[in-house]
Amino acid sequence: MAALGVIPSFSTTTNNFNLTSPYHSLFFSKSAVHLPLQSTTPFNTIKCSLSRRPEYTPNRIPDPYYVRIFDTTLRDGEQSPGATLTSKEKLDIARQLAKLGVDIIEAGFPASSKDDLEAVKMIAKEVGNNIDEDGHVPVICGLARCNRADIDAAWEAVKYAKRPRIHTFIATSDIHLKHKLRKSREEVIQIAREMVSYARSLGCEDVEFSPEDAGRSEKEFLYQILGEVIKAGATTLNIPDTVGILLPVEFGQLIADIKSNTPGIENVVISTHCQNDLGQASSNTVAGAYAGARQLEVTVNGIGERAGNASLEEVVMTIKCRGKELLEGLYTGINTRHIVMASKMVAEYTGLPVQPHKAIVGANAFAHESGIHQDGMLKHKSTYEIISPEDIGLQRSNESGIVLGKLSGRHALKSRLLELGYALDDKNLDDVFWRFKAVAEKKKHLSDNDIEALISDEVFQPKIIWSVGDVQVTCGTLGLSTASVKLIDADGAEHVACSIGTGPVDAAYKAIDIIVQRHIELLEYSMNSVTEGIDAMASTRVLIRPENGYTSTHALTGETVHRTFGGTGAGMDIVVSSVRAYVSALNKMLGFKEAAASKVSSDNSASKVPSEISQVSS
Ligand code: KIV
Repeated sequence: MAALGVIPSFSTTTNNFNLTSPYHSLFFSKSAVHLPLQSTTPFNTIKCSLSRRPEYTPNRIPDPYYVRIFDTTLRDGEQSPGATLTSKEKLDIARQLAKLGVDIIEAGFPASSKDDLEAVKMIAKEVGNNIDEDGHVPVICGLARCNRADIDAAWEAVKYAKRPRIHTFIATSDIHLKHKLRKSREEVIQIAREMVSYARSLGCEDVEFSPEDAGRSEKEFLYQILGEVIKAGATTLNIPDTVGILLPVEFGQLIADIKSNTPGIENVVISTHCQNDLGQASSNTVAGAYAGARQLEVTVNGIGERAGNASLEEVVMTIKCRGKELLEGLYTGINTRHIVMASKMVAEYTGLPVQPHKAIVGANAFAHESGIHQDGMLKHKSTYEIISPEDIGLQRSNESGIVLGKLSGRHALKSRLLELGYALDDKNLDDVFWRFKAVAEKKKHLSDNDIEALISDEVFQPKIIWSVGDVQVTCGTLGLSTASVKLIDADGAEHVACSIGTGPVDAAYKAIDIIVQRHIELLEYSMNSVTEGIDAMASTRVLIRPENGYTSTHALTGETVHRTFGGTGAGMDIVVSSVRAYVSALNKMLGFKEAAASKVSSDNSASKVPSEISQVSS
């Protein structure tokens, strides 16, 4: 217990916050294993946090309690299978991340494809120059392997931002050196050193370096390579647990050891990047912060490669809830009231729904089903709630008592949407309102789930290239199912096709293929009833893969990845809902190429009409 008497010391001129003592006392001291988690720790007595976000300097943070949040939803998150995002969707998410107040947005891996480079550039130009009312503008970062071509591509994409950053990485574990890189440790050190200094030589003053698979790398080798890249000009050192194998106690120790043993470490910011293969990513990240890391890499909803990454909302809310008591007063610059909207947007655009029991943003995170809990909640909310829903941008369920039906007006709809966490602009509100009215004609009361299905169908849709006109099917036991489908193209021209199929949905999809004239593979199809009852709305989700032309390079493996595109649709008729989902996925696929195509054509002063549309016959 004596260890508790140690007060953490820090210097005000660097971010060299000496955490070894408190860290060891809480987690590693044999005598400290049974410490009660209470707010009588000495940490409470130390307060030096500035109320405002400290000024941005790449390699140092003036306030030792401030933790930078580095969001990699658009890079590591987009590596999740099926999570392909169009440029417009990436831009929307980047804008939302800026609203959230993240410090750094890793906007993509520009060398992976021309599309990615253009998307990162667009984000750098717009979001990377948009200074908010508090004077904050996020750093825009691009990932690059340790080679000149990747670093050139990353710099070409991010250099338009006010605060551009290049993040370069090379593997350091023996497993990776032997089987992936086939290089010696000396060779890897030399490449890392040269490439960090190459990035700096381009004019980039903010260079992050990651030793990939640091979690399985030999520590002495890590200290050595990290020391060398600091000398070469790295400003942030990111420590990835690439395969998500470490436990919080080990990851915290790794950060503490790097902090104690790497020459020159006091001149850079230490960062964490934790994968979630054992479900430890958020805990590891918090342990990293506790041990002295002052940049945390996270994704919205925890999406990412394989089992995902540390989740932004879990890490940020942990620091917000427990930072004062247990984490020496650590704080972030995140405006947590924008969390729900960010979560919904990412779930919709990536097609990766949030599990109901997900911490912070799951549908059940604030639901209190059992009688005992409900009784406690009625007596006092703090009995079972450690976070108030309002803190993350959610109003307590239907506190206004509004029941939406066919007589409800735009204002009532808007209020309910705000309660559900959706702040829509006028145009989106209009679109949802008209769909809402159409459904309300057939259904007496619309539940929250109905409303969310409509939002998904109207707001989080890709740019419209094809829209659904009419759908007519015949099906049953007497013969082959037949479908006639009318689609409307971007110029308003109508295209009609008929087809037979094994069922009405198959027939309708074949008719669409005839109109759109693309070779598409349907990988996944699922349908859910949004609510109970015979008048329930159906929500459909599909995943398609175009036959060719949609590839990118995977950042870590270097393999060619064939992109897949997701789409959703909703409607009271299950075939119409299915057709909407398929057309939504097609639009996403066509729109994905459109941004890059129109960039090239505007660069060449040629027509902006995407080639996909001009090929369609009416
Ligand atoms: O998981 C990983 O190692 C990475 C690095 C590029 C940071 O994503």
